[in-house]
Amino acid sequence: MLQQYDPRNKDIQVYVGDRLFPRAEAKVSVFDSTVQGGDAVWEGLRVYNRGIFCLDRHLQRLRDSAKALHFADIPSLETIKQAIFRTLEANGMRSDTHVRLTLSRGEKITSGMDPRLNQQGACLIVLAEWKPPVYDNSQGIRVITSSIARNSPQHLDSKIHHNNLLNNILAKIQANVAGADAAIMLDAYGFVSELNDTNLFMVKRGKLFTPHADACLPGITRGLVLEMAKSLGIVTKEKNLSLTEFYTADEVFATGTMGELTPVKEIDGRIIEKGQTEAVLPQIREQFQQLTQELCEPLTF
Ligand SMILES: Cc1ncc(COP(=O)(O)O)c(C=O)c1O
Repeated sequence: MLQQYDPRNKDIQVYVGDRLFPRAEAKVSVFDSTVQGGDAVWEGLRVYNRGIFCLDRHLQRLRDSAKALHFADIPSLETIKQAIFRTLEANGMRSDTHVRLTLSRGEKITSGMDPRLNQQGACLIVLAEWKPPVYDNSQGIRVITSSIARNSPQHLDSKIHHNNLLNNILAKIQANVAGADAAIMLDAYGFVSELNDTNLFMVKRGKLFTPHADACLPGITRGLVLEMAKSLGIVTKEKNLSLTEFYTADEVFATGTMGELTPVKEIDGRIIEKGQTEAVLPQIREQFQQLTQELCEPLTF
């Protein structure tokens, strides 16, 4: 699935540092840490008609990621919120919007790896675009398994939502070359971790399973799905799951802010066939629609 350019985003305003710039002028320095080393953290947010979905959970994860990377001068939750509101207001965006929120370690006094060269504080970027969910959530997606593993805590902890995305990008390239929509990444032991850009769930005989959040990002949508399933009385379990378990599941679906809830219809050529028990995804989907009304931070403009 290739996202298309949306002409509504031609003249958007983008927040960089401490103010708004027109799209064509929204830039960071060549000395910025994102350019120098992918040294930044990020969040994807979605705006529904009631406001920004799960805003506090996303901002907390952004700040936790920045703390783990030992950023100095992490902006307060209120500062980040105001920057997001200003950007949405400037663009007249009240729904159907995706926000790519980036916090870079900021500009360096000279090129180099050492964070002591960062003497101007972190740099906040709020990129809000008109963007509906990116996957085909009615037809589902086809995925393959990548040879690129997801990072373990020993390498670069996947609990940090950082901009060093090259292993995910390499996995996505493998999916593209194979003509698939996304790639499953395994953990260091060969268990399924997640897709290159979303978390994974599988259903077997009415029970809902997802990999431990050891090598995958503990996604906010993933967390909500686990909470919703429990409230629906569906048995849920986080465990090590092999590809064989996914190939033979009754249902498989992916979760993420960018794509919401996406059925996976094929893995490595194996068709995911509906089981005998009542389908779980439609029940979760119904609750999720409700949450997009309930868990939004209202827009204050
Ligand atoms: C690798 C990866 N997995 C999963 C997700 C989904 O996380 P969330 O549900 O918090 O959007 C993301 C989102 O950015 C991601 O980059």
